[in-house]
Amino acid sequence: MFRSITVSAIKRLTPQSVAISFTIPDELREEFSYLPGQYITLKADVNGQKANRAYSLCSSPYSEEALTIGVKQTDNGLVSTYLNNELSVGDSIEIMKPMGNFIVNAQQDYARRIVLIGGGSGITPLLSIAKSILKKEPQSTITLIYGNRDVHSIMFHEELNELVKRYPAFSMTNVLEEGEVQYKGRLDNAMLSSLLEPFVSDEHAEFYICGPSPVMANAESVLEHHKVAKERIHREFFTAPLSVDEESGIAPETSEKNISVKLYGRSFEITVNPGETILDAGIRQQLDPPYACQIAACCTCRAKLQSGKVHMDSREALTDDEIEEGYILTCQAHPMTDDVFVDYDG
Ligand code: FES
Repeated sequence: MFRSITVSAIKRLTPQSVAISFTIPDELREEFSYLPGQYITLKADVNGQKANRAYSLCSSPYSEEALTIGVKQTDNGLVSTYLNNELSVGDSIEIMKPMGNFIVNAQQDYARRIVLIGGGSGITPLLSIAKSILKKEPQSTITLIYGNRDVHSIMFHEELNELVKRYPAFSMTNVLEEGEVQYKGRLDNAMLSSLLEPFVSDEHAEFYICGPSPVMANAESVLEHHKVAKERIHREFFTAPLSVDEESGIAPETSEKNISVKLYGRSFEITVNPGETILDAGIRQQLDPPYACQIAACCTCRAKLQSGKVHMDSREALTDDEIEEGYILTCQAHPMTDDVFVDYDG
């Protein structure tokens, strides 16, 4: 459910990005509690045009009161342009509680190496993870490999430098496409092979990757090449993955189906047209279902399939356990049988 939350601070990070903080009222604190790496979904109203977007939290739940997101303005980005240039402190905005499976479970007695690989605004969940581990796991070490165009486009540059100064357990390697720097270039296979080489054989290393698709694909391919166990590789997609994963495929022919939907405690019967997703059908029939990315990356549209069968074009944001328990991404799901019952409250 969306809640109206007040903007408590806005800080410009780079010419193209801002950090936006929200103060959560006491009565919503429990609902808005979160784990490092999770995201929130915003519903923005830009000149009468409503749009939902997911933004990762860059704050740490263990050391910061406010919830903070980092937003980079994208070319022609309706919401990111609005958030960068028009939103003001004191404004209210609709926000849904934090969600997401790209999380770290920090434990006081863990002694491990966390390797964070990020590009551009992919730094946001990684920063939350870094601050949380530094706070909660005194025996762990963190290495950040961060790719950007130039020094002026590094989000949270000041804060990251502060972390390096303050915590010997935190180190950072900036890879820049332009400028006089030690690591010049992109986070391509060659660069990542050399930067990850010291960590790939460490059995206590966990790898967290977030950034543009090429960065994610390159990092994964280097880790796979070194046979790093899949359970130790964690990924957060901001854009659609380059390749389709094993479970997905081309949607089979679908026909019009009438399905049942439970949402916010109410029951509905809706019609899903051939080729349409359950989410699109819900939006078209004005149910106001939750969603953000619509590319299987964020999980906001997750619902439980209580009966019937669906085909999912992609299942990227769901864990194997969630699939096992019957959860689906409604932005990717097409009903295949006449008895489909989708429960958003489940
Ligand atoms: S809306 Fe993001 S996964 Fe469906």
